[in-house]
Amino acid sequence: QHIPVRAKNIVLIGFMGVGKTTIGKLVAEKLYRDFIDVDAEIEQRYGMAIPEIFAQHGEDYFRKIERNTIIDICNNKQCNIVSLGGGAFKQEAIREVCLESCLVLFLDLSWDRWKERMDLLIENRPVLHNKSVDEVQQIFDERQAIYAEHNARVTTDNLNPEEVADYIVELLKL
Ligand code: S3P
Repeated sequence: QHIPVRAKNIVLIGFMGVGKTTIGKLVAEKLYRDFIDVDAEIEQRYGMAIPEIFAQHGEDYFRKIERNTIIDICNNKQCNIVSLGGGAFKQEAIREVCLESCLVLFLDLSWDRWKERMDLLIENRPVLHNKSVDEVQQIFDERQAIYAEHNARVTTDNLNPEEVADYIVELLKL
């Protein structure tokens, strides 16, 4: 099925806490599109918060429902702005469906900038629980490889969310 670029979902990927949800909402407002946060969608569909899903059912189960939710969105929605959880692109099936049917934007923040925010990010993110800064940096580095598959990269280091959103809107006009 061929989807014209203008009708495609715009998918935001990147590490936890880079601002995918905040920026996604702003882009959606500016483009008069609907916004879907995949983690929020999972919480709604399954009636549980993400940390609760990890605690009660484990990460593998979370990854399965994450995959099903994203595939469902890609197959059944168009024109939305969709923010993915930072680990979604670990799964080849998710990378495949997104790259085939959507426009994938990688929000890239440097480790130094990310580290400054770390304390604010831990609470709701089971993947970061009980990890040392070095261990988190290792996950951060490993994840850069999975984000390498994208249609466009947006460097966010020196921009606030509003500026990143404006930049994305301009990029989409090209
Ligand atoms: C995860 C990122 C989270 C959420 C879950 C796992 C990850 O999403 O999906 O806690 O493995 O990177 P955010 O990137 O929105 O924090």
